[in-house]
Amino acid sequence: MKRVITFGTFDLFHIGHLRILERARAQGDYLIVGISTDALNFSKKQKNPIYTEKDRMRIIESLKVVDEVFYEESLELKGEYIKKYNADVLVMGNDWEGRFDEFKSLCEVIYLERTPSISTTEIIEIIKE
Ligand code: CTP
Repeated sequence: MKRVITFGTFDLFHIGHLRILERARAQGDYLIVGISTDALNFSKKQKNPIYTEKDRMRIIESLKVVDEVFYEESLELKGEYIKKYNADVLVMGNDWEGRFDEFKSLCEVIYLERTPSISTTEIIEIIKE
């Protein structure tokens, strides 16, 4: 059984999120998703996501393409998570192209194309206008 792992915030769940999770799942047989905590987001962007980590997790774990979820507490722990969850493949969007190549010693690393013209940041901007 091929185990796939991916990571993200998945705030204001949108079609780009669904498409990457579907394609990540198609890389193997079991999909594990690390959902970044509110604290991790705050430390990166000095603001909290719109949806709480609990709600973001509930949405992601309800998807039929997702088999398991956990909280990503620190960006520094990716390698540990890959080992802990016995991942064979790490999938990331190509906004991260090349940035996770260091994990090629632990598992296969695949960057999938982002869905054009949509992002959580853009949705927030449009609503604000
Ligand atoms: N993603 C995607 N296509 C998009 C938006 C996101 O494939 N249009 C992917 C990202 O590459 C990542 C995952 O979805 O692998 C989670 O991304 P996240 O950063 O949570 O979503 P964004 O919409 O990019 O949010 P933000 O604008 O805050 O960066």
